[in-house]
Amino acid sequence: MEQQLTQLEQEVLTKIAEAADLKALNEVRVAYLGKKGPITDLLKGMGKLSAEERPKMGALVNTVRENVTAQLEQKVALLEEAAILAQLENESIDVTLPGAQVRIGNRHPLTRVVEEIEDLFVGMGYEIAEGPEVERDYYNFEALNLPKGHPARDMQDTFYITEELLLRTHTSPVQARTMEAKKGEHIRIICPGKVFRRDADDATHSHQFMQIEGLVIGENIRMSDLKGTLDVLAKKMFGAEREIRLRPSFFPFTEPSVEVDVSCHKCGGEGCNVCKKTGWIEILGAGMVHPNVLEMAGYDSKKVSGFAFGIGAERIAMLKYGVDDIRHFYTNDTRFLSQFHQAEV
Ligand code: PHE
Repeated sequence: MEQQLTQLEQEVLTKIAEAADLKALNEVRVAYLGKKGPITDLLKGMGKLSAEERPKMGALVNTVRENVTAQLEQKVALLEEAAILAQLENESIDVTLPGAQVRIGNRHPLTRVVEEIEDLFVGMGYEIAEGPEVERDYYNFEALNLPKGHPARDMQDTFYITEELLLRTHTSPVQARTMEAKKGEHIRIICPGKVFRRDADDATHSHQFMQIEGLVIGENIRMSDLKGTLDVLAKKMFGAEREIRLRPSFFPFTEPSVEVDVSCHKCGGEGCNVCKKTGWIEILGAGMVHPNVLEMAGYDSKKVSGFAFGIGAERIAMLKYGVDDIRHFYTNDTRFLSQFHQAEV
């Protein structure tokens, strides 16, 4: 019986060693250690032994059983560890693989132009002002020295909601509103926003576009202040070597009024296709705030003076980025818009 037991032990240990996975190992456990297994059988057969053999054999069977159980548990632990390692191997991440590309957007070219101009003026102590896009006739025209029936209204025909309510044609009504609200205080504002005109859309015209209005009111504000300010603006937007030139013009709300040209950033003033061979590019309208406008807003035009200017954001963006059709800004074509990604800081 002792020999039988040793043989059995050898057999089980071999089976344990051979078991390739947890399932096979469990089968070995059931087959040999289970209720119907040979070891249990041996224990059951103990009754047939003599009284002095019984404890000896009992101890032997127990030792074998303990040994086998210990081996089995060791193998289980081994296989479990191997399984975990295999799983880790499977799930491991190759950090050198290229990652999934996250598409991030970029600022719209018009937003960039507006923000660049805002930054410049905020740095010079200006505040940013806003006003409604649906505007009263009074602020869009009358308070700007454009009474009903004034011929200059023709150049700024717009969309009317009622006789008195319209889509603003420029950001200048924010001038009138700010002056009225400040009740005689000095003013330094920059006002970006959407404006609307009854224009047929083509490569250079749009029924909706963006303007940036500037307004300064104070004592002794002179034309030279306007010129100096616009010079800083032109250099910031088009490069330090740029120069500006003022040409006489007409706006009902400024006197004198000027058109402002900047020396061509493409050819430096030699003459090229961008500046139509003139060396100069018109970028904005400006002037000294008309005394009537000051008086209507409650300022004493004998005591204070001011300047104002209005820039088209699209025009600046077209010149700066070489865009040949204004409609590109509004069609939301990502092939166009994503080109401005590169230049983002
Ligand atoms: N509001 C004018 C326009 O839209 C531009 C302008 C603004 C001119 C301020 C002079 C002063 O044409």
